[in-house]
Formats: sequence, structure tokens, C-alpha cells
Amino acid sequence: MAKEKIILTGDRPTGRLHIGHYVGSLRRRVELQNSGLYDKIFIFIADAQALTDNMENPEKVRQNVIEVALDYLACGLDPTKSTIFIQSQIPELCELTFYYMDLVTVSRLQRNPTVKTEIQMRNFETSIPVGFFTYPISQAADITAFRATTVPVGEDQEPMIEQAREIVRRFNYIYGETLVEPEILLPDNACLPLPGTDGKAKMSKSLGNCIYLSDSADEVQKKVKSMYTDPDHLRVQDPGKLEGNTVFTYLDAFCRPEHFGLYLPEYPNLDELKAHYQRGGLGDMKVKKFLNEIMQETLEPIRNRRKEFEKDIPAIYDMLKKGCGTARETAAATLDDVRKAMKINYFDDAELIAEQVKKFGGE
Ligand code: TRP
Repeated sequence: MAKEKIILTGDRPTGRLHIGHYVGSLRRRVELQNSGLYDKIFIFIADAQALTDNMENPEKVRQNVIEVALDYLACGLDPTKSTIFIQSQIPELCELTFYYMDLVTVSRLQRNPTVKTEIQMRNFETSIPVGFFTYPISQAADITAFRATTVPVGEDQEPMIEQAREIVRRFNYIYGETLVEPEILLPDNACLPLPGTDGKAKMSKSLGNCIYLSDSADEVQKKVKSMYTDPDHLRVQDPGKLEGNTVFTYLDAFCRPEHFGLYLPEYPNLDELKAHYQRGGLGDMKVKKFLNEIMQETLEPIRNRRKEFEKDIPAIYDMLKKGCGTARETAAATLDDVRKAMKINYFDDAELIAEQVKKFGGE
């Protein structure tokens, strides 16, 4: 049998999802889901991982689990095609993590570049929670429990996937071929990460520079109108710069050729619009209006679907519960293989018992 192609990926529920998530991963995820190229797809809400640096704020995580689930469904993730579940409900992941911890050194974790920057960002200094420090190991458990071959994530997650691959290789070397080595699938998108509306490098809830998938049409329009452009482009006739100009970065991410015919017929394409802006004579407001049309077109169906799903919240929890059930079955099967490989499957190993009987002089 050819190896199954299995996708696994997830998000920490620390806030509602925004258009940075959308262009960075969600849009692609839905395409992958609908491509028919994968045998199984697991999408999960990494609440246990979110708690590693939010241990004092469990309510935030709890509230955002449902927000993320709604954002998933609104974007087109479909529970009949993808198993959607919550990390903390799969205790098998803890057990795997516990065993993998023996395969990783403290210094290897200290060298993980993502962990390094995150520790600096969070000002943990010397008081780093052990759970946070070791989350790359638990992430390896997330991935391997489902025998994922393909992990679609952003570039910042590269060190995590590399660390997971090392754990798999080490496990298989010591205990025999058991685990599947995952591959990263990076976004095929040049304009990433999507900057915040204020022009800062990244959208982040704490900076208040996000456009959320659940924002109302008015909120989106307001945010687009106040977006950062070229600060030296003061009068319409002045030449404008494209570098660092958020409005144009967003157009690169969202604009399709047909948008010109629909919303800005006096320009044939984005290149001509950019050229005019650079020459001078094109005002920010006109470009922002165009971007607003495109953002509304993109976000309206998502917002409307979200509204529909919001009408039956118990059904969302039910869907997640079912997803957790399926996910647990898969993780438990992997764990069986792992225990067997590690020789800690004492009670279902008749050979072991026979061997011990002999050793102690029995028949
Ligand atoms: N660390 C990921 C993030 O912050 C979330 C995550 C947890 C994840 N476990 C994973 C992603 C396993 C992919 C595979 O976005």
C-alpha cells in the first residue's frame, strides 16, 4: 500500500483569527482540503499549547476555542472532510510527549530559534515555564500521533517541524521503524507575513492592527481607510512609494485581475495602478476604496457563513466532540505502536510472559 498522505495543522486559540491567518494558512488549508489529494486531514485547536504561556489566563483560551472553530468553519473547513478537534481532549498526546522527552536534550531545545525569540518576546528571562520550554516536544507528539506526512504552517514553525523530524528519526533508530517523518508545507505566498494595518511587520492582537475575519463591514472599511501608506505621499500629485505601503501589500495578497473590471475599470491591472501611484496623480483614498471593495468581497461570504454557524453553538461543540473522538482513536493506535516498540506493552505480549516463566525455571 502506498503511504497515506495525511495533513495535520492547528492554531493556538489566543484570539479570533484575522486576515493574516487567512492569507498565511487558512485559504491554503481549505484548498488542500478540497483538492482530494489527501487521505486524511486533521485540523486542531492547540489549547494545551496556548496554555503554556497563558497558564494564568485559562478563560481567554476557553473563550477562543469556539471563536477559532467558528473562524475555521466560516472559511470553509468542513468537518465531513477534515477532522477538527481540540488538543487537550487527546490525553494520548501527553503520553507521547512524556516518552519523546527522553529523546531531546535541554541544549537542543535552547537552540530552537522560535523558542529563543518567543522567550525574549515574553520577557520570561530565567522564569521560563517548563511546559513552554518543551512545547516543541509536545508539538512533535501532535504531529506524529496522527502519522502526519504533511504539516502546512508558516515559516516561523520551521524549527518545530525540524525538531519533530529529529525526534522521529531518533525514535525509529532506537526502537525500530515506527513513526512517520513529517514534511513542512510552506505557504506559496510572497507577501507574507501580512503586515498590520499600521504597517508594522505583523498583525498582532496586542498592537490592535488586525482585520479580523469576524469584523463587520463597517469595521473593515474603517480599518482600510486608516491604513498606513507612504507617509511622504501628501498630495495626490506627489509621487508615491510602494515599499512598505500596506495598501499595496494587501492588494498584492488579495487583488485578482477581475477586480479591476468590477471595481476600478479605468485601470487594466495592478501594475498600471502601481505605476500611476509611483508617477504621482493617484490619491491614497482611491486606492483604499478599491482595496475596501476587494476586502468586502473576500470577507463578506466568510462573515455571513460565520453568522449562520453562530446560530447553533451547541452544534459546533458537538462537531468538535465528534472530531475529538476520531482523533483519539487515531492517536491511540499510534500510541499502541509506540508502546510496543518501546517494549512497555507488558500485558499484550505473550512472548514476554513465556520468556519470564522460563527464566524463573517454570515450564
Ligand atoms: N505552534 C503552532 C502555532 O503557534 C500551533 C501548533 C501546535 C501546530 N501544534 C502544532 C501547528 C502541530 C502544526 C502542527 O501556530
